Amino acid sequence: MQYEWWHEAVIYQIYPRSFMDSNGDGIGDLAGITSKLDYLAGTLGVDAIWISPFYKSPMADFGYDVADYVDVDPMFGTLEDFDALVTQAHDLGLRVIVDWVPNHSSSMHPWFVESRSSRDNPKRDWYVWKDPAPDGSEPNNWISVFSGPAWTLDEHTGQYYLHSFLSEQPDLNWRNPALAEAMLDTLRFWLRRGVDGFRLDACHFAMKDPLYRSNPVLERPEHGYKDLGEYDRLIHLYDRGHPDIHGLFRDVRAVLDDFSEERPRFSVGEIHLEGEEWASYYGEGDELHMPYHFGMLNGDWTAAWARGVVDTQEAVLPAGAWPNYVLGNHDEIRIATRYGARRARMATLMLLTLRGTPTLYYGDELGMVQADIPSDRQQDPWGRRQPGLGRDGCRTPMQWAAGPGGGFTTACPWLGTVDPDRVLNVEAQLADPGSMLNLTRRLLEVRKGSRALRIGRYEAIEGLPETVFGYRRRVEGESVSVYLNFGDHPVDVPAEGQVLVATRSGIRGRAGGALALGALDGAVLSS
Ligand code: NOJ
Ligand code: CA
Repeated sequence: MQYEWWHEAVIYQIYPRSFMDSNGDGIGDLAGITSKLDYLAGTLGVDAIWISPFYKSPMADFGYDVADYVDVDPMFGTLEDFDALVTQAHDLGLRVIVDWVPNHSSSMHPWFVESRSSRDNPKRDWYVWKDPAPDGSEPNNWISVFSGPAWTLDEHTGQYYLHSFLSEQPDLNWRNPALAEAMLDTLRFWLRRGVDGFRLDACHFAMKDPLYRSNPVLERPEHGYKDLGEYDRLIHLYDRGHPDIHGLFRDVRAVLDDFSEERPRFSVGEIHLEGEEWASYYGEGDELHMPYHFGMLNGDWTAAWARGVVDTQEAVLPAGAWPNYVLGNHDEIRIATRYGARRARMATLMLLTLRGTPTLYYGDELGMVQADIPSDRQQDPWGRRQPGLGRDGCRTPMQWAAGPGGGFTTACPWLGTVDPDRVLNVEAQLADPGSMLNLTRRLLEVRKGSRALRIGRYEAIEGLPETVFGYRRRVEGESVSVYLNFGDHPVDVPAEGQVLVATRSGIRGRAGGALALGALDGAVLSS
C-alpha cells in the first residue's frame, strides 16, 4: 500500500468564527487563522487544517448556507487573505482542507434567486421544485433535520422547494447536469487556489429518490415516541443516500484526481452511518478517500465498547481503505463535557494512537468545555427552533489566554467563553507540564516520530483485565503498544517496554513486566 500525506496526517478542525479575530470585531477571520499557523504547525504539531465554511453567506447556519461558493464572506476577509493563508500554511508544511457544501446552497445564492423567479427560468431545475399534494399540503412526508417539513411553499410560483435543513438552505438538484457541472467547477476553483482537499458537508443527502416517495414511518416503538424527534420517527429510505450518490462521489474523485499530479488532493465526507453502508462510500477506491467515522462520539465508555468500535470499523473497511476517528466537531458536545476531563485525556491518547487519520477539534487540545449559553443569547438556529439542541456550546472562541477576550479578540467575543479557573487556555497550559495541551503535544510528537503509530498494523491485545483495552501497532522493525484503563479502579497490566507518553506523569512499568494503571489512565509503550 502506498501512503500519501493524508494517511499520515493529523487534521485539526477550525471553526473560523471562533479561532482568532484579527480586526477587533469580535468574530474570528482568515487573517486570524494565518496569525496562528505557527501555533498549529509548531507549538502543537498537527499536519493539516480543515476550515469550516468561510464563503459568502447570510449566516442563517453560520456559513453552511453558502451564497457564493467561490468567494470569501467579508466577515472572514478576502480571497487575498485566503491565498496568504494557504501560502503560509504550505511554507510551514501544513495542508489546507476546506469545507464544501454540496447538498444545499443559501436561499440568497443567485442560482436560487433565479430558480425561484419563475417556473420556466433556466435554473428552475437546479433546485428541487414540486407541486403541492392535491390538498395543497407538502409533496411528501419528508422532515428537515432541523425540524418541521422539508418543504416550503413559494407563493409566487405555487410550488414547494425541498430543504433537508433550514428553509434558508434549499437543496441543490444534482440530477441536473448543468448544476452538477457548476458545482464541480467550484471544486476546481479552490483546487487551483492550492487547497489540498475538501470536507464534504452532509454529502450523502445530495442524492434522493428520483420519485420523491414518502419515507416509511417507524412503527410505534413500545415505549412510544417520547425520546424521538419528528425526524427520527421516519425511516430515511428516500430522502438521502440514493445509490446514485456513488456516481456523484466518483465525479468528485475524478476532479480531485485531475489535480493530483503534484500531490494527491483529498476528500473526507460527513456521513452519519455505520457498518457496511458507511464503508460503501469508499467505493472501490474511486469515491471518497474517507467517510468520517463517528463511532467514538458516543458510547458507554467501557473497554469492550471502545474495542468494538475499532474492531468493527477495521472489519468493514474495503481492501486498501484507510480508517479514521473523530472525538468532536462543531455539531457535538465538547468531549471534556461529554466524557469528563479525565476521559478526554484518555480519548485523545486513543485518538492519536489508533490506526487511521485522526481529526482534532479546535480547543479540545485544551480540554475546553461545553458552554451553557442562556436561551436569550443563543445564536445557533437549530437551538432557537428546538430548545436543547443548540450547538453554540461547542463553538465558543478558542481560549489563547486568560482575561475577557481570551486572547481571541480585543472586542467583545461573538459568543461567551467558559474558563472559570483560567486554566483552559493556551498560555496557562504551555506553562504547566501536566496540562492537556502538553499531553496532546507530546502525543503528536511521539506519533510523528513513530512509523508504527502513523501507518502500522493494528491488532488488539488479548488476555487483559476486563476494564483494559490494549492494542499493538506494528511495522517492520518497530512495535508500539497502547493500554487504556476504562475502569474506576487501578489495575496491573502485563506489559513490557518503556513508557513513551501517558495520560499522567508517574505511570511507569514495574519490574517483572507489569504496568500499573490508575483509574482512567492510558499509556503508550515502545515494545
Ligand atoms: C452538517 C454540518 O456539520 C452542520 O453544522 C450543518 O448545520 C449541517 N450539515 C447543514 O449544512
Ligand atoms: Ca474579525
